[in-house]
Amino acid sequence: MKPKIYVTYPIQAEVEAFLREHCDIRQWQGDGRVPRETLLNEVANIEGLYTGGSTIVGRIDEELLARAPQLKVVSNVSVGYNNFDVEAMEKHQVIGTNTPHVLDETVADLAFGLILSTARRMVELDRFVKEGKWDRTTDYRELFGKDVNGTTIGIIGMGRIGEAIARRAKFGFNMDVLYYNRNRKPEAEAKYSATYCDLETLLTQADYVVLMTPLTPETYHLIGEEQFKLMKKSAVFVNISRGQTVDEVALIRALENGDIHAAGLDVFEQEPVDPQNPLLSMPNVVTVPHIGSATAQTEIAMAMRAAKNLVAVLTGKAPLDPVGK
Ligand code: DGY
Repeated sequence: MKPKIYVTYPIQAEVEAFLREHCDIRQWQGDGRVPRETLLNEVANIEGLYTGGSTIVGRIDEELLARAPQLKVVSNVSVGYNNFDVEAMEKHQVIGTNTPHVLDETVADLAFGLILSTARRMVELDRFVKEGKWDRTTDYRELFGKDVNGTTIGIIGMGRIGEAIARRAKFGFNMDVLYYNRNRKPEAEAKYSATYCDLETLLTQADYVVLMTPLTPETYHLIGEEQFKLMKKSAVFVNISRGQTVDEVALIRALENGDIHAAGLDVFEQEPVDPQNPLLSMPNVVTVPHIGSATAQTEIAMAMRAAKNLVAVLTGKAPLDPVGK
C-alpha cells in the first residue's frame, strides 16, 4: 500500500504524476488553497502533507499535528517555513522540508526589479505615459529618478538569495555592498567585496536597503520606526522577505513623513493586502503580490523539489532539504 498524502492546492501534472508513482494522493480541488477546516479534517490518516508555505491555512501547529497521528513529513513548496511550528513538529516527530536553491536567482531578479522600478519611478511613469500626460510641455526634470549604479546597497540577510542580490549589485551595477547577517560570510565578502556591518551602520549608509531575512521570532518587526529614522531620507527600502519583518505602520509613517524616499514591496503584514492600505495610494511605493519566486520555471522547480523531499521521507530516505533548529 502506498502512503497517503494530502496536497493543499492544485499542482502541475508532472508533479502529480511523480507523487502518484509513490503515494496515494488526495488533493484540494477547490479554488485557491484549502480552507483550514477542510485541511484539519483531511490530515487524520495521512503520512505526508504537501503545501504552499506562506499562508495561514498552511500553519503546521499543535492543533493540526494533534489531528494527524500518522504524519511523518510536511513538505513546503517555499523556502520560507514560518508556517511551521518547529517545536511542535519536533515533539510530534514530523519532519519539515522547504525548497531552497532553486529560487535564489528568480527572487534576486525581482529584488532588482523593485530596486529599479522604485528608483526610476517606472510604475508611476508608465501610468503617466498611458494616461496621455506626456506632451510637449512635459518638464523632464519632474520625471527624474535616482541612480542605482555606483551607489551603496545594504542587504539584511546574506543567505543564498542575499548573495545572488549582492552579485547583481556588485557586477551588474557597480554598487558597494554592505550586509548584515547573523553570521559573517567571508566567502561572500571576498566574492562581492561586501562589507559586514551592524544593522545601524547599514541603515545609515545604504542608498538601497534590501530586507531578505527569514521571519522568525527574532526578526519580527526587525525594521520599525527607529530603523526608518536611521535610514537616509533619500533611501529606497525593499522588502522581499515576509511582511511581518517590518512594522508596516512605521513604514507608512516613514514614507508619509519623508523619512525615506520610496519603497518596493513584495510582501505585506496582511496578505492579500487590504485594498485600503495607505501604501497602495502612494506613488513612490511599488507593490507586487508576493511573487518573488513566481515564474513558470521556478514554480515547477520548487514544486518538484518539494515532491522529492516528501517522497524521500516516505520511502525511508533523508530529504534533500530538512529544516528545523
Ligand atoms: C518562499 O519561497 O518563501 C516564497 O516567499 C513563497 O512563499
